[in-house]
Amino acid sequence: MKYKIAVIPGDGIGPEITTQAELVLARLGELFGHEFATTHVLAGGAAIDVFGEPLPDQTIEIAKESDAVLLGAVGGPKWDGMPGHLRPEAGLLKLRKSLNLYANLRPAILYDALKEACPLRADLVEGGLDILVMRELTGGIYFGEKGRREGPNGPEAYDVECYSEMEVERIARAAFEAARNRGRDKKVTSVDKNNVLESSRLWREVVIRVAAEYPDITLEHMFVDNAAMQLVRAPKQFDVILTSNIFGDILSDEASMVTGSIGMLPSASLSSAGMPGVYEPIHGSAPDIAGKDVANPIATILSLSMMMRHAFGLESEAATIDQAVKEVLEAGWRTGDIAKPGERTIGTKEMGRRIIDALKR
Ligand code: NAD
Ligand code: IPM
Ligand code: MN
Repeated sequence: MKYKIAVIPGDGIGPEITTQAELVLARLGELFGHEFATTHVLAGGAAIDVFGEPLPDQTIEIAKESDAVLLGAVGGPKWDGMPGHLRPEAGLLKLRKSLNLYANLRPAILYDALKEACPLRADLVEGGLDILVMRELTGGIYFGEKGRREGPNGPEAYDVECYSEMEVERIARAAFEAARNRGRDKKVTSVDKNNVLESSRLWREVVIRVAAEYPDITLEHMFVDNAAMQLVRAPKQFDVILTSNIFGDILSDEASMVTGSIGMLPSASLSSAGMPGVYEPIHGSAPDIAGKDVANPIATILSLSMMMRHAFGLESEAATIDQAVKEVLEAGWRTGDIAKPGERTIGTKEMGRRIIDALKR
């Protein structure tokens, strides 16, 4: 079968990690007899350099015609001085909005082999960790009214956090469905700041209403400041974390480190009707290590596994990728971010090659 995939390498380490993911894809296609037809398109700083804008129409069109989108990362110091709406990051936000990708799934799994890369005390993660952050992705403060104005004390700036009931309802439903289908603790922890924010009060009301449709799922509420603390105090208490765009952004970076490194966390950004999903690591373009062949490509490679599952329903192909990553980690291969001090490390390309060699049908 033929699958059309738009690839957006982006900036910084983006092209290095998507190259490895594409090699994995090619080998997976050979093994399972699929044609994964990739088309490279520009977004982020790479698109600004060529077209003067971070998300050209052509990129949106090609993404919409594809079955799925694989993205590296965007952004970097070269474009940091641009006005907000022309920055690389604005291109990523526009892509998410254009494809209506409101549900961002960020699984934080601590692999057995990486126990020692977890900075927490061993007993806190005994038996492993498997948390799913369900982050709302097309609303909240990222997309609310923003601007600058003259205030009583001089110039000021504002970003509005606004959620509609509809937006909360659909992401809540996605979280409850995920909790039901993951077959773990069947628990949703909804994270908000309802003691202060009106938008969080609406968030909590709607989540409680949706929860009534899921009597088999336990719902608990937690303030975001406490959640940030609980993630490092007792991370095993979490199953699905349901939260807003900005809280989810922050908590997922924190959760990633609990599993060893931000270089390990994949994501899927999904809509409910018709649009292709975007599959990308949760980390950024890591300008500090770009071009050095040291970035960990695993988050991007695991994003492909999420693509197999969510975009194509190819469960065996997804499991094949997951298993190959596991075997390579168990064999002791490490990029710098997941290595112990003094341990021998391998580069981006070698990590990619070892995962490809471990792919078996
Ligand atoms: P970052 O995630 O790029 O990097 C944070 C730290 O983690 C750095 O020390 C980096 O070297 C390390 N790191 C990240 N990915 C790694 C990997 N795969 N392997 C090993 N180490 C890795 O975040 P930042 O430094 O805050 O942002 C850098 C740029 O990336 C900014 O322009 C930001 O806007 C952008 N960004 C883009 C995305 C995206 O495209 N989805 C996400 C986050 C940040
Ligand atoms: C992420 C990133 C983006 C976000 C930025 C680059 C717009 O941090 O994907 O986590 O905040 O969503
Ligand atoms: Mn982020």
